[in-house]
Amino acid sequence: MRHLISIADLSNDEIEEIFALADSTDELRTEKPATGQIMATLFYEPSTRTRLSFESAMQRLGGSVISCSDMKSSSTAKGETIADTAKVVSSYADVLVVRHHWDGAVQAMAEHADVPVINAGDGGHEHPTQTLCDLYTLRKEKGGLKGLTVVICGDLKNGRTIHSLVFALARFGANVVTLAANGMALPQYVIEGLEREYGYGLMPVAADDLSAVVTETDALYLTPKQPHQLALFTQVDEVIQARLSSMATGLRYDAFYMTRKQKERMKDGTAGNYPTIGANFLREQRFQDTVVMHPLPRVDELSPEVDKDRRGIYFKQAAYGVPVRMALLKFLFDRQEKQSSKPKKSVVYESPETIGPHCRNPNCVTLNEPISTRRKFRILSPDDGGAWLLACLYCDHRSKVQYIGNAKSKRYSSFDPGLVNSLREWLNKGELSIFDTIKEAEELGYEPTKSGPQRVLMNEAEINKALVDIATQILRDCQNPDRLLILGVRSVGAQLAQRLAQEIEKQRQRRPELGEIEIFGAGEELRRVSPTDADAGPLNLKDREVILVDDVLYTGRTVKSALSIIFRSGRPQSVRLAVLVDRGHREVPVRPNYVGKNIPSAENERVRVKLRGLDQETGDQAVMYSIENAAGTAASLSAAEGAVASR
Ligand code: NCD
Repeated sequence: MRHLISIADLSNDEIEEIFALADSTDELRTEKPATGQIMATLFYEPSTRTRLSFESAMQRLGGSVISCSDMKSSSTAKGETIADTAKVVSSYADVLVVRHHWDGAVQAMAEHADVPVINAGDGGHEHPTQTLCDLYTLRKEKGGLKGLTVVICGDLKNGRTIHSLVFALARFGANVVTLAANGMALPQYVIEGLEREYGYGLMPVAADDLSAVVTETDALYLTPKQPHQLALFTQVDEVIQARLSSMATGLRYDAFYMTRKQKERMKDGTAGNYPTIGANFLREQRFQDTVVMHPLPRVDELSPEVDKDRRGIYFKQAAYGVPVRMALLKFLFDRQEKQSSKPKKSVVYESPETIGPHCRNPNCVTLNEPISTRRKFRILSPDDGGAWLLACLYCDHRSKVQYIGNAKSKRYSSFDPGLVNSLREWLNKGELSIFDTIKEAEELGYEPTKSGPQRVLMNEAEINKALVDIATQILRDCQNPDRLLILGVRSVGAQLAQRLAQEIEKQRQRRPELGEIEIFGAGEELRRVSPTDADAGPLNLKDREVILVDDVLYTGRTVKSALSIIFRSGRPQSVRLAVLVDRGHREVPVRPNYVGKNIPSAENERVRVKLRGLDQETGDQAVMYSIENAAGTAASLSAAEGAVASR
C-alpha cells in the first residue's frame, strides 16, 4: 500500500507524473476515476485550503467525502488513540487525509490504517502536498526547477511546509537561500539531511542583497558543495568573511517563499524582527522577476500591496491545490491497484529490549502517544567511521548513539567508531541494543564492558591551570571583551565553558555571556545559560566574539556541526575554538585556537574528561584508556559467556 507521509516517499519521476496528471485535470473531471470511492478527512488542526482543496479534488474526481467537522467532537475527546481512529476510519473510507499537531502522527496512523494515508501536515515536521503545489506553481511560472534560486523566509524552524520544500528543491537541483527570523533557523536535522543526501552546504549571502526584506539574522545560501565551506573555518576573520561573502553576491533570485510565524508551536520568545515583504521589495530593481509565494494563511509578513503586483502568485498557488490534489489522488488510486510499494533503502533499528533510545523531539508522536507507535529509527552511519546517528522514523529528528550493548552477552559500553563492524553484525542478528543512558542499560541487567587500564592525562590542578591559561589568552586576543560569548558544546564542553566564564570573570571582574549548543539533542540547539533573564530573548550572535568550547577534539565533526548551528543563527564577528584535549586525527580540517593539552592518541584509545559535579568520587580528570583492539573487545562483548576483555 502506498502512503504519502513525507516528500521523500515520491521519486522525482513520480512527482513529474503527478504534474502531468495535474496538467490534464479536464480529462479527469470527465472520466471521474474516483467514482464510488470515499475519502475521509481527519483534521486535528485548523485548515482552510488543504482540507477544502482535498475535498473539492475528490468530488471532482467523482468520489465522495466523509469528515469530522472538528476532531475535538470525535472520540478523540474520549481518549481514543490515533491508532484506533485510523483502524476504524479505514473501514469507512478508501483513503485518509490527516492533519495532526504531533510530528510523526500521520506516519503512526498509516501504520494502523488499512487504506492509503496522506499527510496534510504533521506538527512542525512535513507538509508534502503543499510542496507538490509549490513545485507545480514554480514550474508553471519559471518553466522548470533546476538551477532556480528560491529564498525561503520567516519561521524556518517550525514551518512544516518549508521542511518538505527544501528537500524537494534540492532534489530538483534548485538552490535555496534561507532568510530566517532570529531564533527560527532551519533545524539541524534538515541541514544534516540536505548535506548527507544531496551534498548541500551553507554559504553566507552578501547582506545588502536582501536588505529590502528586513531581518536580524543573515541570509545563507544552500547549494551543492562549494570548494570552501564556511563551516570549516574556526576563525572567521574579516578577510575570510569578505571573501566568503563575495562568493554569494549578486545572486539571481527567482522566488521568495514567505511563511508566517508558527505561534501555535512556540512556547515563548516570539519577540524580535520578522522579515516582511512589502512596497520596498516591489521597488527593488533586482527583484523585478522574483515571484512571491506563500502557503497561506498570512498574518502581517506579506503586505496586501503585493496582491496587485504580477509577482504575487500566492492565490494562484492556492488555486493549484485542487488540480494537484486531484492528480495525487488519481496517482495513489492507480498505485493501489498495481499493489506497488516504494522500497525504503535505509537500515531500520528497533530495540530488542523494552527500554531503548527515545526520540529527542518533545513534540514527536512517540513521546506523546507511545501506545500507537514503535520506537523505530533509521541508522545513519558515515562511511568513514564517525559517530552513528539515529533518525526517528516518525519525525526525522536525530540523536547520537550514546551507549551500545549486545542483547545476548548483556554487556554494554559507550559507542566507539572502532566497534562499527561488530555493531553491524549485531544489528543483522537483532542483538544490537542502544541506550540513551548507562542507567537504562543497567536497569536491564547489562554490565559494563571491561576496558584497558586508565591513564590520567590531566589531573585537577592541570585542568585548572589550562583553564586559567585559556582564559588569559582569550582576553588577550579579544578585541572587545563586552562582546564575548562563551558557547559550550553539551554536555562536558558546556561545563568547561562555565568554568571558563568564571575564570574570565575573575580576571576581568565581569562575567561574559554564556550559552550552550546541543547537537542532535532535545529542544533548542542554541540556548542562553547566563544571564538567566527571562526577557533576554534568544541569543543574538551578530557581531559577537564567540568562543566555542569543547572537551576533546578528535575527528572535528562535532565542531563542524556546532559551527553550522552558529552560522545559521547569526553572523558573529569571529569564532574561536577552545578545547581541553586535542587528540589529533582530524577528518574535518578544524584548527583549534586554544588547547589545554595536545595528546596524540591511537584510534583504539578513548579520552574522557570527567569533571567533578558529574562524577562526585574524584576531582576533575582527563583520562585515557584503550579498548584493546576493537575486534577483541567486540568479541568479548558478544561472547555469550560475557568474557572480560584482556587488560
Ligand atoms: C500551512 C500549514 O498548515 O502548515 N498552511 C497550508 O496548508 N496552506 C502554513 C501555515 O499554517 O502557516
